[in-house]
Amino acid sequence: MITDAFQFSRLPLIHFGKGKLGLLPGLIKKLGTNIILVTGKRSFMGSGEAANLLNMFWEEKITFQRAVIEGEPSPEAIDIAVRGLEGEGFNVVVGIGGGSVLDAGKAISAMMHLSGSVRDFLEGVGRSEHPGTKISYIAVPTTSGTGSEATKNAVISSVGESGFKRSLRHENFVPDIALVDPMLTISCPEEITAASGADALTQLLEAYLSVKASPYTDALALEGVRAVTKSLLRCVADGSDIEARTGMAFAALTSGICLANAGLGSVHGFASSIGGMFRIPHGVVCGSLMAEANRVNVRELRNRRDGDWALRKYSCLGRIVSGYSGRTDDYYIDSFIEYLTELVQELKLPLLSEYGIGTQDILKICDATDIKSNPVALSRNNLSEIMSGRL
Ligand SMILES: [Fe+2]
Repeated sequence: MITDAFQFSRLPLIHFGKGKLGLLPGLIKKLGTNIILVTGKRSFMGSGEAANLLNMFWEEKITFQRAVIEGEPSPEAIDIAVRGLEGEGFNVVVGIGGGSVLDAGKAISAMMHLSGSVRDFLEGVGRSEHPGTKISYIAVPTTSGTGSEATKNAVISSVGESGFKRSLRHENFVPDIALVDPMLTISCPEEITAASGADALTQLLEAYLSVKASPYTDALALEGVRAVTKSLLRCVADGSDIEARTGMAFAALTSGICLANAGLGSVHGFASSIGGMFRIPHGVVCGSLMAEANRVNVRELRNRRDGDWALRKYSCLGRIVSGYSGRTDDYYIDSFIEYLTELVQELKLPLLSEYGIGTQDILKICDATDIKSNPVALSRNNLSEIMSGRL
């Protein structure tokens, strides 16, 4: 489908490639020398790369204060971090970590010039509109998943009975610089590599199949999917495979650009509702549901007369994963669903029930699931079916 009207958001200045972390002090110094360094509790700061980086900061007279983020950021975590950093004249925020850390850094940079809680500005939660003011932000991912280094939103969670998982969003929140060095993902553990990779693949697929997709996002999404098919299982089998790690870093970055411009589908609708109610990693929800959700999409599209554009896209995906030419569209579409089903098994992605989600939760979750840009409208029964297949 050619979309005759679309918009494409700004991109960060992207530095991509093995060893690019060495550019960070120079990039920071162009913006100032007093920084907020947002990291997770352990992972990156315990690594050899961190020791080298801090040494370079010292040599370049870059001073920093750390904000430490544990798990997916809550409104309280952001507010506490911002309050602890106020009044110090910071020039730039640097987030180094997985998707949660990068989102936290994005939110901190957006809240440094504002009073009140970040909760007031969250979509569907707060009542205030964010003016888009922020401190410059440099995002440095250490996992290959959310693509937060290229998106305009930060996901903030409050988990519980009346919990939520919502975005702080503004065009200005696209990071100023995305520094993507695949070497930083080498030490990412197997299960996080698998779940993060499944998140990136889901984002590529949902953006490609979105009703808001454009020729630009389609071209990027297909390149991202090709990279995933060549790299994800290799990364999981051998975390030190730098060629495969580079492929997944590319796929994740690309998935962020695609989702920022084409939106997402049913799996990310579930990720938001389930993530607000249960403590379950975002990538696990995505990976666990991706095959079921696409199977239901295809069946519903085949039952309709207006879904040919999306079925042609599924066929194109099947051509990429099957490697065969000269087969029918139906063959390719079925091959693609089979590929996803096998991939979920090979990645050993857990069932949702392993996180305490049961059949008694299905209706509550389906009612709270808001699906934005799926290629086909799904009923409550369809959503229930997708979940039931993963309990
Ligand atoms: Fe995601």
